[in-house]
Amino acid sequence: MRTVYVNGSWVSEDQAVISVFDRGFLMADAVYEVTTVIDGKLVDFAGHIARLDRSLGELDMPSPATPEELLDLHREIVAKNGITDGRVYLQVTRGNPGDRDFLFPDPKVTRPTLVLFTQITGRPEDSADAKRGLKILTIPDVRWGRRDIKTTQLLYPSMGKMMAKKAGCDDAWFIEDGLVTEGTSNNAWIVKGGKLITRGLSNDILHGITRAAVMRYAAEAQMEVEERSFTLDEAQAADEAFVTSASAFVMPVVEIDGARLGDGKPGRVAARLREIYLDESRKSGV
Ligand code: PDD
Repeated sequence: MRTVYVNGSWVSEDQAVISVFDRGFLMADAVYEVTTVIDGKLVDFAGHIARLDRSLGELDMPSPATPEELLDLHREIVAKNGITDGRVYLQVTRGNPGDRDFLFPDPKVTRPTLVLFTQITGRPEDSADAKRGLKILTIPDVRWGRRDIKTTQLLYPSMGKMMAKKAGCDDAWFIEDGLVTEGTSNNAWIVKGGKLITRGLSNDILHGITRAAVMRYAAEAQMEVEERSFTLDEAQAADEAFVTSASAFVMPVVEIDGARLGDGKPGRVAARLREIYLDESRKSGV
């Protein structure tokens, strides 16, 4: 049984309690972060906490703890649960105002709810998905207009993953105005003529922490990166494609809406970037 963190207490997962009036539960009035743990170390922690702060600020939600306190909590939960390869999930909600009300409660009276739990994954090198590559289904992007805020409104991404599964695919990419926005829970990339292409940052996509890291590593490895939108046709005609996220790292894509990319096997650029990302994450984990 895992030990989880709820509002200042360490409790067994079967003892953890959140109010039925919590705005995270009633209104999805909540933001979250997922931080990878590799070899017992937190990957890109500073980036995740900076984005958490931004998400909270955009929603006028008070911060439940300082970055230093959050780092201590992350380290403590990793140690308590003996995590070597896995994730720390953190969620902040606007708290429990004691009743259902659309209006935000006074933050001086209603304190935010803070929850952390861990998940165990395998060693990244053992990922079967990374060896096989993902098959992607595209679906319309009908999410709200502030996808840059990492809220827990994940119903449509969940529906997208179910649509992909029903279609015999592994995941879905969202399309808006004929252009790929991002994956259900990751940023989308294509490779053409040795150049990496990924959509530029705006309110239309989540500003991925892994995306930013991969951009840095690609530049260091003298790979050219172009930040621009791309169409489905362009993606289907690409040499390679991949997705990035804290849970998938760099994950090759081998098929989009039934169109095979290259020889249908994970591409060399994606494999190289995955290797670099894992190496660098091992070096820089905290
Ligand atoms: N998802 N885009 C969306 C819509 C996401 O949900 C995520 C992350 C990303 C990638 O962001 P990052 O590289 O910072 O993980 C892009 C997390 C992993 C999740 O919901 O589990």
